[in-house]
Amino acid sequence: MRTAIITGASSGMGLQFLMQMDAHLQVDEVIVVARREDRLKELQNYTKAKVVPLPLDLTDPSAVPALKEFLKKRDPDVRLLVNAAGFGKFEPFAEGDPDVHRRMVDLNCRALQDVTYAVLSYMSDGSKIVQFGSMSAFQPVPYIGLYGATKAFVLSFTRALNAELRGTGIRALCLCPYWVKTDFFDVAGGSEYVHNFPVMYQPDFIVRKCYETIEKHPKKDVCVPGFLAKGQRFLVKILPHGMIMRIWLRQQGLMPEKINEKKETAGTADIQKEQ
Ligand SMILES: NC(=O)c1ccc[n+]([C@@H]2O[C@H](COP(=O)([O-])OP(=O)(O)OC[C@H]3O[C@@H](n4cnc5c(N)ncnc54)[C@H](OP(=O)(O)O)[C@@H]3O)[C@@H](O)[C@H]2O)c1
Repeated sequence: MRTAIITGASSGMGLQFLMQMDAHLQVDEVIVVARREDRLKELQNYTKAKVVPLPLDLTDPSAVPALKEFLKKRDPDVRLLVNAAGFGKFEPFAEGDPDVHRRMVDLNCRALQDVTYAVLSYMSDGSKIVQFGSMSAFQPVPYIGLYGATKAFVLSFTRALNAELRGTGIRALCLCPYWVKTDFFDVAGGSEYVHNFPVMYQPDFIVRKCYETIEKHPKKDVCVPGFLAKGQRFLVKILPHGMIMRIWLRQQGLMPEKINEKKETAGTADIQKEQ
């Protein structure tokens, strides 16, 4: 059975991959993975293919074995895998919750490679893998630094995997969007740190560009949708990363003197509260 698998299908760009699928890919079924089962069950209207909900928390150690078991029973012919499940946090690393840090690395990196490994044996000539990187994969980004590092992992892993897959007809592509209007920001929180976004793309645009890249540019292993995003990627290539980080910190009002001011204001507010 011709199958697509989308993790993170319950919202944002993962959901968009499902919504735009019929225009780009004919499959018999789409296995949709995320934690919110109620949302997964509402997705049938978006495609002619049969939607098969597989509610899993991919940070749970039992999730990938469950996926493997599920695939073993169905023996699908997987034409497309989209690994969209992921999250980030806007915060100073030292003030974050180490459990959340671990879950972020676990979901964005460990689960992504585990799912890829589990699905690869059901792929063949013409199958595609889309991994969600980010513009933050190309540069260090203070106050969302751990997240950026997970995306650098995804970018490096995906490009190397694509090279290894040459000759099999299977292709891996890293989609690296700039800021995109999704629930990502509700989860990331921390708007007191990161709040100034030079551009905010729409998820349908990002996903349409990705499908087009898959169809029109068979050799590309990275997709950076949007003119501004492409410009930023070019600058990040030619400018020293120290300078790129300073520009970013200034953009967010996070130069050291501003941070001290913020801390002092927070301290005064705490004292006032106690009084
Ligand atoms: N939005 C941006 O600006 C931006 C930019 C660059 C890259 N990205 C990347 O794009 C991808 C999609 O994010 P989005 O922007 O579309 O945000 P989103 O709407 O928050 O989507 C995240 C998806 O991941 C799923 N998910 C989260 N934790 C999970 C877990 N433990 N197990 C299984 N599924 C989980 C969520 O579903 P449940 O909550 O139902 O589990 C949801 O479907 C992410 O990898 C993100 O890092 C986003």
